[in-house]
Amino acid sequence: MTFSDQVISKLLTAQRVAVLTGAGISAESGVPTFRGKDGLWGRFKAEELANPDAFLRNPQLVWEWYEFRRKIIRNVRPNPAHLTLVEMEKHFPHFSLCTQNVDNLHFKAGNRNICELHGNILRNKCSGCGKKYGDLELLPGCSVPRCHCGDLIRPDVVWFGEMLAKEALELASYEAEHADVLLSIGTSAVVYPAAMLPIQAKRSGAFVIEINLERTAISHQVDASLQGKSGEILPALWSAVLAKKEARV
Ligand code: OAD
Repeated sequence: MTFSDQVISKLLTAQRVAVLTGAGISAESGVPTFRGKDGLWGRFKAEELANPDAFLRNPQLVWEWYEFRRKIIRNVRPNPAHLTLVEMEKHFPHFSLCTQNVDNLHFKAGNRNICELHGNILRNKCSGCGKKYGDLELLPGCSVPRCHCGDLIRPDVVWFGEMLAKEALELASYEAEHADVLLSIGTSAVVYPAAMLPIQAKRSGAFVIEINLERTAISHQVDASLQGKSGEILPALWSAVLAKKEARV
């Protein structure tokens, strides 16, 4: 695999690196993506499962859908793309990782400076008072758990029609606007406001690199669009950067 001199040199000299990840980075770990062939939204209806009205209408169904996804997520492991991001975090003076994923795999891999824009599926919260809960399993035949305040507990994720946490979005925007290089990995870049981050970075002067199986909604706006599996491209790219660094010393 070869990379352009410009891509290598931008990563070699960068002081601040920001990363945005989407479902594609976890595909090679066995977590289904949302769109495209075999995507979750091709098989399930988001409007019946991932919005506040759906939860009010049928909390049991929503919990069962999340339990189905949690079962997958509890058993998967980070892949080479996640692990490369851990190495990159150790290398750069400033490194931030914003993810749209709720699968906890960046934490499992060992990254530290993580901003979860859409929440975390292994956490829960009260739909009334907001009290946070850890991972809870819905046992077959059991009803949806309730908080001490009496309201129903729900997954701690952002649903359609809900706002992202203000602090998370502000932090992500700040990191994008101050980055020397932004990597957009495994996202179709169609869900806002997350999809805005690579564009914000580009407008603020960052060099933007995209890694995806195919071209996306933002491919024409980025500086380099690398096509292929992130679990193969990202480790190869990082090895090429380190090899160049060693050759220079
Ligand atoms: P999508 O499912 O929309 O897009 C996944 C992207 O990953 C696609 O562009 C694929 O081409 C790419 N891809 C798949 N496998 C890959 C691989 N091995 N290597 C590299 N790229 C690969 O997922 P997101 O962009 O994350 O929101 O979706 C954004 C949001 O939409 C999600 O966070 C979720 C969803 O509805 C909420 O639930 C709020």
